[in-house]
Amino acid sequence: MIPTKSSGASRVLYTEGLSKFFDGLKALDRVSISVPEQNMVLVIGPNGSGKSTLINVITGFLKADEGRIVFRGEEITNKPPHEIFRKGIARTFQTPQPLKKLTVIENLLVAVPHPGESLKVLNREWLKYEEECVEKAYGILEFLGIDHLWDQEAYKLSGGQLKLVEVGRALMCDAKLIVMDEPVAGVAPALARTILNKLTRLKQSGVTFLIVEHRLDIVLPYVDYIYVMANGRIIAEGKEKEILGHSEVVEVYLGATHRGAQCGV
Ligand SMILES: Nc1ncnc2c1ncn2[C@@H]1O[C@H](COP(=O)(O)OP(=O)(O)OP(=O)(O)O)[C@@H](O)[C@H]1O
Ligand SMILES: [Mg+2]
Repeated sequence: MIPTKSSGASRVLYTEGLSKFFDGLKALDRVSISVPEQNMVLVIGPNGSGKSTLINVITGFLKADEGRIVFRGEEITNKPPHEIFRKGIARTFQTPQPLKKLTVIENLLVAVPHPGESLKVLNREWLKYEEECVEKAYGILEFLGIDHLWDQEAYKLSGGQLKLVEVGRALMCDAKLIVMDEPVAGVAPALARTILNKLTRLKQSGVTFLIVEHRLDIVLPYVDYIYVMANGRIIAEGKEKEILGHSEVVEVYLGATHRGAQCGV
């Protein structure tokens, strides 16, 4: 694979000239980003700048009008979400989407790929598969520090705990790239740092992250590279120092602050 501008690592995902229109509105305007392997890439920008739209288009929840998306050397533009998921991209949502009446461990188990009818016929094989899945789910809950909650219904969990359950679901299917929309929004700082430390350990073990987050004070120490969006466009990219010293970034954020928007800097 071709090395990226942002690091020497090969890129797991890149987009080229990605655009998305909602009626007259250009929510994405020729967005090109690159996500190197085992990196945590952050996308920031004021409210309405197109961050969630970018994630939704990459993960197949919205269709691109222009441009392309390449994941591990294969074009995935406008493929349906389940196909993109099967290829190794898992996502979490701005608002966690648990199956509220299911327990925590069941929320992880629903994420595993169905082995197909053939295995069901072989009862013993099926039971073994189920057992392995439960063990894997429990191991993930242990890693995330929420194993004590395994039999709690999801609706009883706090916002931060639900974010961890979403990470757990992504890990159940051995995702190569985890795309997260505001992973620590609404989470108390201590738990937010715990979540980010877990993600860093996962990164070290080979997972790549593309995250959108407003809370720069908390996420910046953990990220490798940053893209800044405004009005659907990438207006700056680079490492923390370059971004925070970038005049257009400061202008966009100050403008947003004057209009009363949340921006986190
Ligand atoms: N499904 C939709 N239909 C119409 N317009 C949409 C839709 N989704 C997003 N938009 C518009 O596209 C623009 C980009 O929205 P998006 O949700 O991507 O912003 P964002 O950067 O994620 O904002 P926030 O920080 O508030 O989450 C906004 O003007 C929004 O109103
Ligand atoms: Mg958003």
